Amino acid sequence: MFVVVGVTGGIAAYKSVQLVRLLVKDGHDVHVVPTEDALRFVGLPTWEAISRNPVTTSVHDDVASVRHVSLGQRADLVVIAPATANTMAKMASGLADDLLGTTLLATSAPVLIAPAMHTEMWQHPATQANADTLTSRGVHMIGPVSGELTGGDTGPGRMAEPEQIHEAVGRELHRGTDGAASGTWLVTAGGTREPLDPVRFIGNRSSGKQGTEVALAAARRGAEVTLIAANVDWAVLAEASAHALVRVVPVSTTDELERAVSEAAPSADVVVMAAAVADYRLPEVAQQKLRKEEASGPLRIELVESPDVLAGVVAARRPGQTIVGFAAETPDDGVSLSERAIAKRRRKGADLLAANEVGWDAGFEHDDNHLLIVGSDDRIIADTSGTKRATAEALVQAIVSR
Ligand code: CTP
Repeated sequence: MFVVVGVTGGIAAYKSVQLVRLLVKDGHDVHVVPTEDALRFVGLPTWEAISRNPVTTSVHDDVASVRHVSLGQRADLVVIAPATANTMAKMASGLADDLLGTTLLATSAPVLIAPAMHTEMWQHPATQANADTLTSRGVHMIGPVSGELTGGDTGPGRMAEPEQIHEAVGRELHRGTDGAASGTWLVTAGGTREPLDPVRFIGNRSSGKQGTEVALAAARRGAEVTLIAANVDWAVLAEASAHALVRVVPVSTTDELERAVSEAAPSADVVVMAAAVADYRLPEVAQQKLRKEEASGPLRIELVESPDVLAGVVAARRPGQTIVGFAAETPDDGVSLSERAIAKRRRKGADLLAANEVGWDAGFEHDDNHLLIVGSDDRIIADTSGTKRATAEALVQAIVSR
């Protein structure tokens, strides 16, 4: 989507660098329009580098492309962070003495502002009247929040955190479209591990990247997400754990995953079981390290079946709940991926099933994936390849389109 980020002259401008970064990472075409004052806080090269688009403050640059109105006309959304008291006053009066002013008058896209100023300025009747005027015209406001302000004083006036603004932008962009994801989602990611003794485990190579991207894609569209992460590296989880709508629950074994799922599933509108769950575990875990010197001959381990967590969710499903299974399959000459996916969806009783091919060099641990999404009528809903972010978007779109 085409997103215009207006940045005005307040110290919180440095935080908007993170907002722009998050929007670019989402795949949006981001155009930053700073005011001259904003550039005293964060320089133009920073905005160009981080947004990957040219940046200007003046209506006299790039006149041939009629830039003073084209940005506003093309925008799917305009967000202003920080929005100073002066900017709010200019907006309320419809002043257009710079590129941000003309952009705002030329746009019919939703406008979201994140005010930032000292408490006295925020509480001044003039600012409050401007805030009321803007709200009555349909401008959405996020914050200001109460907290520490520059200078050490505290009170209302602090800009909402970039992650909160990012989440509000996601919600606004999807509002009323068929891509909005409301309600609560439960997503599992990663791979469970079954301990042999205090130092060893049986596990699988799932990195948790695909499941984490599904959680993020749902949150970006406005869903409240519980992400149950089985042995997922914190670097993979960093973005999700910073997202205001995602709650991360770390687990390790299948038993722990099952407990976390059964706690969260009853209130979830959508359950996505992306985790690679160990099918077998040891009936009893050794409390001391298994020692080679104490063994005679080969080590034999008997494994018993773990609970099928997805089957449990399907058995306890409540009306209206959407349940999505995953299948990681190795290529097989005799049976195609789609045949396996259709059979597994039926066997599991899920509404949708996302199948991907895995092998020594595919699927697990990679940044790219190929997902085949099968629906409840055995139809292939989507056959999608690309980054795990892109395939997650396709899956979430398939879920919300149901
Ligand atoms: N799953 C689960 N609990 C298990 C095993 C799997 O909840 N004990 C879930 C996975 O999260 C996934 C789906 O079931 O969403 C399919 O997992 P998979 O391992 O492919 O299926 P299995 O039933 O184990 O089938 P098979 O090993 O025969 O391929």
